[in-house]
Amino acid sequence: MLRPIPRLLGASAALFGLAALLLPACGGPPPKDPSQMTGAELFLANCARCHGRAGEGSFLAPNIKGASEHWTVDQLVIYIRDPQKVIAEDERLRAQGQQYSQRMPAFPQLSPDQRAKVAEWVLRPR
Ligand code: HEC
Repeated sequence: MLRPIPRLLGASAALFGLAALLLPACGGPPPKDPSQMTGAELFLANCARCHGRAGEGSFLAPNIKGASEHWTVDQLVIYIRDPQKVIAEDERLRAQGQQYSQRMPAFPQLSPDQRAKVAEWVLRPR
């Protein structure tokens, strides 16, 4: 009469063990520390939702694949921190901004080093 209970306990212990083994695999790798991200990873995390994964542009933001025609890394480091300040002083950027429903946000949360990494990635030779 007592036998089914230990068997049930054994089975649930086995299932629990299996779940403990499998569950961590479902979550994928833990999120990466932003200070360790490469320029490409910073771009994907901060810019790609508007500019597209390769910077090809979308209805939200211009194509920036040819950005090296207009920008140096140092200029982009300043721009990314506070785009609207730079846009206000630049005729071409002002005209371009009017084509999009929302302005490019500022990225004060990115350190100068992170902005340089993302700028280098945007301006990399293709
Ligand atoms: C919410 C959408 C959005 C996000 C996110 C965004 N941008 Fe932009 N970006 C824009 C828009 C819109 C413009 C056009 C200027 C304006 O109106 O602000 C622009 C303009 C630019 C330009 C100038 C293009 C030119 O013709 O010279 C560069 C370079 C740029 N973005 C890079 C970036 C980088 C790098 C990031 C990430 C750190 C980023 N953007 C994130 C929307 C976005």
